[in-house]
Amino acid sequence: MPERQFTVTPWEVSGVVDYDRLIRDFGTQPLTGPLADKMEKILGDEAYLIRRHVFFSHRDLDLVLDDHAKGRGFFLYTGRGPSGPMHIGHIMQFYFTKWLQDKFHVNTYIQITDDEKFLEEKRDLSYEDTQHWARENILDIAAVGFDPDKTFILQDTEFIGHAYPLILKIARRINFSVARAVFGFTNETNIGFLFYPSIQILPSLLEKKRCLIPAAIDQDPYWRIQRDIAESLGYYKAAAIHSKFLPPLTGVQDKMSSSKPETAIYLTDSDKMVRDKVKKHAFSGGRDTVEEHRRLGGNADVDVPFQWLYMLFERDDKRIEQIRTEYRSGRMLSGELKKILIDKISEFLEEHRKRRDKAHKTVSLLKHDGALAKEMWTRDFSKV
Ligand code: TYM
Repeated sequence: MPERQFTVTPWEVSGVVDYDRLIRDFGTQPLTGPLADKMEKILGDEAYLIRRHVFFSHRDLDLVLDDHAKGRGFFLYTGRGPSGPMHIGHIMQFYFTKWLQDKFHVNTYIQITDDEKFLEEKRDLSYEDTQHWARENILDIAAVGFDPDKTFILQDTEFIGHAYPLILKIARRINFSVARAVFGFTNETNIGFLFYPSIQILPSLLEKKRCLIPAAIDQDPYWRIQRDIAESLGYYKAAAIHSKFLPPLTGVQDKMSSSKPETAIYLTDSDKMVRDKVKKHAFSGGRDTVEEHRRLGGNADVDVPFQWLYMLFERDDKRIEQIRTEYRSGRMLSGELKKILIDKISEFLEEHRKRRDKAHKTVSLLKHDGALAKEMWTRDFSKV
């Protein structure tokens, strides 16, 4: 059978992604078997994300759990490129990271790559735009509820100068041909962007412990380079836990894109916008007429509202299987399924917004004044 065409890079995800093929192509490990069982036990209420293979792949997660069990510890690292408002797919990475922090009580570094989004020319963002979105996105991230003494939000344009000596050590080890092969740089790529990978690698070297990075699998190319150079610098190879992409609301053939707001639900969307987007634009596996739907049933496999419930919003295994059965049998109509999703999203957004309104107070702790932030700002990076 011909392999399906799709693209997954840190800057572009398109086509119908074949996740098994990505595991092969990227050289990662499937997250299954005893290791997945172990993670499920640790995660408790959030274990469904592993059980349902939303987080489906990893690098060295077994070694991370081993280090934890033996008291050597580890730390977490994730990030966000502030190119616009955050959508549900972005924020799910941060909730997952917070749940890991809650279980393991470990330090967590969150990188805000305002430099990357300014340098990425196809986005055409002004420097001011990136600063605006960094502020907005940081509020959403602070709303997630990370431990303010164990979490450091490093915004690149503020922090990177301070850590420059270590960035130089990283940059000197990455040559152009490797960067070009991994990222597809061309003669037209601006030189700021060529340097940028050394900056995304920095947070993985902030402690001499193993670093576990939760993210969707699009970010993995950075960790491949990191793993080639970390040990020569006296650090550990980065470990990763990779998620699939929450599909665009409009269907897997589409892309979540800020130029097409109907493809995603943003954290800033009002209840009415959520209702309208899901009702009008969510790709449905339902039939054309009620009569036909009752007779033939809906196709849950391609139905985006069902996928969103399965991947994120409905934690209860019994309930999700009941919804699947009802929908497939035709007893549940598309409108009813959409209503279930609308209610779940609205409930989540309402809670998130309440936390966001109070998050202003924690931002300064996370960026400057909390215990971990202070430690980072006072570290002498010429000596690490
Ligand atoms: P960014 O801002 O593109 O994405 C932020 C996080 O969201 C994940 N993601 C998704 N997850 C689920 N469903 C989707 N549809 C979806 N789209 C994106 C991304 O994988 C990421 O985890 N260069 C990075 C910023 C960064 C970073 C990091 C991310 C710096 N250091 C370390 C992760 C880990 C970026 O622009 O992410």
